[in-house]
Amino acid sequence: MSTKKPAPPKTIESVLKEDRTFAPSAEFSKDAHIKSLSQYRRLYRESIKDPQRFWARQAEKEIVFYKPWKKVLQWKAPNAKWFVGGQTNVSANCLDCHLETDRANKAAIIWEGEPAAPGKPGEERTLTYRQLHREVCLFANVLKKNGIKKGDRVLIYLPMVPEAAIAMLACTRIGAVHSVVFGGFSAQSVADRIQDCAAKMVITSDGGFRRGGVVPLKENVDNALKIKVGRKSITQSIQRVIVLRRSENKVKMKRGRDVWWHDEISQVSDQCPPAKLDSEHPLFILYTSGSTGKPKGILHTTAGYLLGTKLSSKYVFDLKDDDVYWCTADVGWITGHSYVVYGPLANGATTLMYEGAPNWPGPDRFWQIVDKYQVTIMYTAPTAIRAFMKWGESWPKQYRLDSLRLLGTVGEPINPEAWMWYHRVIGKGRCPIVDTWWQTETGGIMITPLPGATPTKPGTATLPFFGITPEVVDDQGRAVPKNTGGKLIVRQPWPSMLRGIWGDPKRFVETYWSEVKGCYFTGDGCRQDSDGYFWIVGRIDDVLNVSGHRIGTAEVESALVSHKAVAEAAVVGRPDEIKGQALVAFVTVKGSAKASGDLQQILRNHVGKEIGPVAKPDQIRFTDALPKTRSGKIMRRLLKQIAAGKAIQGDTTTLEDISVLAKLSRSEE
Ligand code: WT7
Repeated sequence: MSTKKPAPPKTIESVLKEDRTFAPSAEFSKDAHIKSLSQYRRLYRESIKDPQRFWARQAEKEIVFYKPWKKVLQWKAPNAKWFVGGQTNVSANCLDCHLETDRANKAAIIWEGEPAAPGKPGEERTLTYRQLHREVCLFANVLKKNGIKKGDRVLIYLPMVPEAAIAMLACTRIGAVHSVVFGGFSAQSVADRIQDCAAKMVITSDGGFRRGGVVPLKENVDNALKIKVGRKSITQSIQRVIVLRRSENKVKMKRGRDVWWHDEISQVSDQCPPAKLDSEHPLFILYTSGSTGKPKGILHTTAGYLLGTKLSSKYVFDLKDDDVYWCTADVGWITGHSYVVYGPLANGATTLMYEGAPNWPGPDRFWQIVDKYQVTIMYTAPTAIRAFMKWGESWPKQYRLDSLRLLGTVGEPINPEAWMWYHRVIGKGRCPIVDTWWQTETGGIMITPLPGATPTKPGTATLPFFGITPEVVDDQGRAVPKNTGGKLIVRQPWPSMLRGIWGDPKRFVETYWSEVKGCYFTGDGCRQDSDGYFWIVGRIDDVLNVSGHRIGTAEVESALVSHKAVAEAAVVGRPDEIKGQALVAFVTVKGSAKASGDLQQILRNHVGKEIGPVAKPDQIRFTDALPKTRSGKIMRRLLKQIAAGKAIQGDTTTLEDISVLAKLSRSEE
C-alpha cells in the first residue's frame, strides 16, 4: 500500500527524490514487538533522555550476568566501558540460557550446504540448541587442549559451515578473542591479520565449496605461514592449525603444527563451564578497510556487544519463536557475526546458514531455500537484489515464497528500483522491508525502521534505533537543517560500539574521534528529510562500497604498486548497476614494462593474490601520468569523472600538467 506524501528535498546534496511511503500493515503491526510509530517514538525518547537508565534496564532484562555490574557506563571520549564490574559470557547467553527452556530442542542452526554439482541436492544439517551447546563445549576443550588461554587471539578462516559458528562460540566460551577472516581473502591477507593481532592459532578447513569449485583454504594458510620479511616469518606467533574436513580436498598436514578437528574433538570431554568474563573482556577483532593501506582491526567487547546485537535482532527483525530467520551474509563480515550468529542465538531464534552462492547451481537457489525451510525473515544486501533483478523475475516466480513475512537489507544505500522490486517480487507487497544502516564499528544496527511501527520510503534507513543518537552536521560539527547534506556522526556512546583499533590507539582517535570533538564520526555523508528520516549518500573518505564490501582505494593502490611493473596507481569508483560501485585503476608502468592486455590480467590477479578476489579492479587503464596538483596530490575527482565516462567538470586550475587530462581520457582499453 502506498500513500503519496510529497517531501521533496530542497538541496542538491542528494539527487534522490522519493516520495512513496509504505506504512506497515495492520496485520503485521498487531503482533509486532513494537506496534506503532507513536510507541516507537515514546520508547525512543525515553531511551535517549536517560540512556544509562534505558541500557541498564535492558541489560537486566536481556543478559545473564554472573556478577552484576556496578556502573552502567564509564565514558571519557573516545573510551567507553559498559556495565563496569559485571561478569558474563557470550556463549552462555547464546546457548546455556536456552537449555532450561522449551528451546532446548529447537533448531538453533539450520545449515544448507552448496550442492557439489548441478542436479545434486545440497547437504543439510540441523543443530538444536542442545546439540550446538555440546559441539561448542567439545571444541572449547579442544582450544584449551591446544594451549589457547583467555585473551589469546585465534584466527578463523572457514567456509560458511556450522563449525564457523561453533569455533566462534567456543572462543567466547573460554575468553579467547576470535578474528574471522572471510574465506574469499588471500594468503597474504591471512598473514597480515595474523601478524597484526599475533594470533596463536588458525582454524581452517581442507576447502570450501564455491560455485562447484573448491576454495583451497588450508593451502592458503600454508602459504600465509610461509611468508617472510627478510629472514623472519611474519606469522611466527602461530603454534597450531586446526583443520576441519569439509571437501576431501587433499591437504598437507605439518607435523607438530597441524591437527584435524575430528581427531581433536574425539579426545576431549563435552563438559566445559563458561568462563566468567569481565563485561569489557575483548570478544573479537574484525578487520575492515579504511582510507589508508592497512586494514583496521576493529575491537568489540563482551557485554555491550551482546546486548546491542540481542536487542536489535529482537526489535528490528521482530523475532518470534516460530521464525526461521535467514541472514545471507558470510560470517567473515560483521553482518555474519552480529546477525547470523550472536544476535539470533542470544534470542533463541532459528538461524539459517547457507554455504554457497546465490546463483549456483541456478539463479533460483535462494528462493529454493526459502521455500524448502519456510523462511520467514530474510536479510540480504542490495547488490544481491540488483543481481536477482538482472537474472529476471521468472526465477523467484517459480516459488511460493509465502512463508516470508519480513525482508531486510544492509551494506549500502538501496536504490529505490531495487527496493520496489524486492517489495513486489519477493515480498509480494506483503512484507515490510527494514533497510538497516550500521557498520563494522557500530557492532549492531543503528538506523532502521521497526517493521511494525515505521512507515518506510524506498532508499532510506529511516530513524534511529533505541538509545542511538545520530546527527547530520557540518564541518564545524554543528547540526545542519533538515534536507541539507552533511557528515553523519553519533553523539552519545552506545553499548555495542567499537572499543578501539587493535594495537593502534592513535589511528582510533584520528579516524573516528577527531572530526567532531567527543562524537563518533561514521565516515558517511547523509541528509535528514523533513520527516527526520536519514538518507545515507555514501562514504566521504576514500573508501568504496563494492557489492556491499568495503574496500579502501589505498589498499588496492598499495597492492598494485607492490607489483614490479607498476610505478604509480590511483584507484577510484565508478557507478555500477550490480555492484553499486566498480573499481577502476589508473596505472603508470615502470620504464621497462609494457602496458598490455596481458599486464592488465596479471595486475588484476596480483591484487587478487594480495587482498582477495573482491578487490580485483574491474578495469585497469594505463596512462603516462596521473593528474596531480602542484603539491603532488592525485586529483581523484577528475579520475572519477573519467572513469564514469563523463566530461571533465569543475576546477582544473590546480592541475600541474593540463595535458595529462586529454591523455587520460584516451587511456581506455
Ligand atoms: C558502511 C559500513 C553493516 C554491515 C555491512 C557493511 C554502508 C551499510 C547501509 C545502509 C546505506 C549503508 C555505509 C557504512 N552501509 N548499510 N542500510 N544504507 N549505507 O559493513 O563493511 O562496515 O560498511 O556500509 O557506508 O558506513 P561495513
